Amino acid sequence: MTSRPQAQRAGTENPGPPARTVAVLGTGTMGAGMARSLLRNGFAVRAWNRTPSRAQPLAADGAAVTGSPAEAVTGADVVITMVYDGEAVLQVMTEAAAACSPAAVWLQSATIGLAATAQATALAEAAALPMLDAPALGTREPAEQGKLVMLIGGPRSLQSRVQPVLDAMSTRTVWAGDLPGQGMALKLACNAWIASITAATAQSLTLASGLAVDPQLFLEAISGGPSDCAYAHHKGAQMLAGDFTPSFGLDGASKDVQLITEAAARAGADTTLLAALGELYRAASAQGYGKQDIAAVIRAFDRGLVGGPS
Ligand SMILES: NC(=O)c1ccc[n+]([C@@H]2O[C@H](COP(=O)([O-])OP(=O)(O)OC[C@H]3O[C@@H](n4cnc5c(N)ncnc54)[C@H](OP(=O)(O)O)[C@@H]3O)[C@@H](O)[C@H]2O)c1
Repeated sequence: MTSRPQAQRAGTENPGPPARTVAVLGTGTMGAGMARSLLRNGFAVRAWNRTPSRAQPLAADGAAVTGSPAEAVTGADVVITMVYDGEAVLQVMTEAAAACSPAAVWLQSATIGLAATAQATALAEAAALPMLDAPALGTREPAEQGKLVMLIGGPRSLQSRVQPVLDAMSTRTVWAGDLPGQGMALKLACNAWIASITAATAQSLTLASGLAVDPQLFLEAISGGPSDCAYAHHKGAQMLAGDFTPSFGLDGASKDVQLITEAAARAGADTTLLAALGELYRAASAQGYGKQDIAAVIRAFDRGLVGGPS
């Protein structure tokens, strides 16, 4: 990666025009849905994926499918990274940063934790590429429907250039703070909640079943009450059906619990619950459910007692 001259940098004091062309680097479960939401909203999308066959279907929706990250970012006003982890983000942007337009803004949306976000911020600074830490809340369906919630950390002066892009992918933007890393910190807090309530749902369904009560009655009992939660019904139904079609992949959740544990330890917060969650998600992965949905964490509790086989 070579850095571009500072004079060419699109300064945070100069907002510049809103984006029309967006590069999406990583068209897995989330990136493909985000790319389609952008296309529906009239953006030109330049897509790249490490495994080309996973990006190719986007061509039918109107995306320009490119052969490399550098080709994808060429001419793009906004560059979105949605690959798996911090290592992948740093690899891809090390390759692509020098090819970014001087007026481009990088939205780093993959869940990569705080240490890798600091490395990504340093990479962006070295390339004179304005960056917002922009993780996404929501799974495959919200990504496809443009109903994510985008969590942003970074200078507000970039907002006018990226807001139409964020609006195309989401129903809401939450500005977590002016520093890169603050969006990721909020994302880690949200994913600690999701990992916890998914495992808690699995625990209650297994407990009911193990105590010879129809597990469906757990969902009926909490329905409409103060402890009710739409996510418990959504994931609980998948658990009862044994349908673990990936929406939020279990190995991804396991990766996130590790990132959350590292951040919690750094913040001096207790990690007892996180350690237990980490063990449960790793146990389900070891049983072969890593590529399936996070709902398969129930297999760490029940070893196949609840729902159908999957
Ligand atoms: N699924 C969710 O509910 C959800 C929600 C919010 C945020 N996220 C986060 O969004 C990101 C993407 O998640 P996903 O669910 O879309 O995952 P996914 O379906 O497993 O896709 C992962 C993507 O990362 C790419 N990738 C992995 N390693 C790479 C590398 N070394 N170099 C280049 N590309 C690489 C994959 O390319 P290949 O196709 O070549 O393997 C694929 O495009 C993750 O950080 C995840 O934590 C996920």
